[in-house]
Amino acid sequence: MATAEQARERLVADLVRDGRVRSPRVRAAMEAVPRHLFLPGLDPAAAYADEAVPIKTDGGVTVSSVSQPSMVAIMLEQLEAAPGHRVLEIGAGAGWNAGLLAHVVGPDGAVITVDIDDDLVEGTRKNLAAAGLERVTAVTADGAGGYPAGAPYDRIELTVGATAIRPEWVAQLVPDGRLLLPLTVRGSQLSIAFTHTGPGLLTSTSVRSCAFVRLRGAGADPGRDTVLPGGGWTVQPACRDVAEGDAGLEVLERALHEPGRDRDAPVPGSVSDLWDGLGLWCALADPRVVRLLGPDGGCLARSLFGLAGVRAGLGLVTEDGCALLVADPPATIRSFGPGGDGAADRLAALAAGWVRAGRPHAADLRVDAVVPELADDPPPVPDGGREIVDGAGTRLRIAWGTGP
Ligand SMILES: C[S@@+](CC[C@H](N)C(=O)[O-])C[C@H]1O[C@@H](n2cnc3c(N)ncnc32)[C@H](O)[C@@H]1O
Repeated sequence: MATAEQARERLVADLVRDGRVRSPRVRAAMEAVPRHLFLPGLDPAAAYADEAVPIKTDGGVTVSSVSQPSMVAIMLEQLEAAPGHRVLEIGAGAGWNAGLLAHVVGPDGAVITVDIDDDLVEGTRKNLAAAGLERVTAVTADGAGGYPAGAPYDRIELTVGATAIRPEWVAQLVPDGRLLLPLTVRGSQLSIAFTHTGPGLLTSTSVRSCAFVRLRGAGADPGRDTVLPGGGWTVQPACRDVAEGDAGLEVLERALHEPGRDRDAPVPGSVSDLWDGLGLWCALADPRVVRLLGPDGGCLARSLFGLAGVRAGLGLVTEDGCALLVADPPATIRSFGPGGDGAADRLAALAAGWVRAGRPHAADLRVDAVVPELADDPPPVPDGGREIVDGAGTRLRIAWGTGP
């Protein structure tokens, strides 16, 4: 059996080969900070597998995990933390990412990590001490409010999913600082790195797909994936009005199980495209679009990288019908109910538009955010731009085609 050191070396080599680790700083941190010390009791093969490891559940739902190494690496690259930086991490978990951050910022920097649960913070402290990284400060706090006692920060990283950008986080950033968070935008969780360009103003520097457990406490969003009445398919609401309306759910259920009018889909969508590519495109263009995950798919809280073989689709629900685009081969658009053909035309047109645009993905998005209460002079929405107001009142302006 490989030793922990050998297993770590192999993991880092894989992350470099796959382009997840790109910079010498992130590589050095991944090489130096022993993940197995943050997962006591796991054998080296499991501690250095490229998988998230659940560490706490509540009522059968995972509320804390040690994140997937490839996702951690992607986010550390997005964060661009540097020696001497002051960093706040929200979502300590077992402390592994905080340890990596401490390595990146070095002895002249500072890392404060907060978690909402005392037991997790206790564990984090123990694990960091075992790794010789006691200089990280681990505190029990609801990160919805940031951590004002340690502000201002050069970098704030959430390692837990949010549905809104809270003004507190932006207020605690230095000018030119960076906020990195998994943010759900119309049903897609996106890891967005924002630069703080002015009071209350953020501009994205990179966007990636991700899948994190959600924020609890004051910033929790009660919105949940909905299991259809038949108990099989799950609806991920891009638009909550549709998904929560019983009529919409019923029509989706019937369309999945009763004969409808089928036509070939203009694009053979892969399952991951239904989240990160085509699905993201459709949901941003039309708030009536929802994601559907098949009975064998379970909940999307698991890693996006493990989706192969899962049945999934997109739905567009109108008042008197719906259309479904189902990915499993052959990709099909099914219309159902009197309004179904119109909905299918719309879905087909959206899919064709995505192909014409070069099949863009999350990485091609640009997101500007305006926090009205902090912005002296909020810029107007650009011509043709779309604006989504999140649950904290932050205005997200989203455009395609300008990402790296
Ligand atoms: C995916 S885990 C964090 C992973 C971790 N950073 C690592 O190194 O692997 C998300 C964490 O966020 C924490 N969390 C959830 N809501 C929170 C809140 N409001 N404030 C602070 N932490 C929160 C959870 O308890 C959980 O430990």
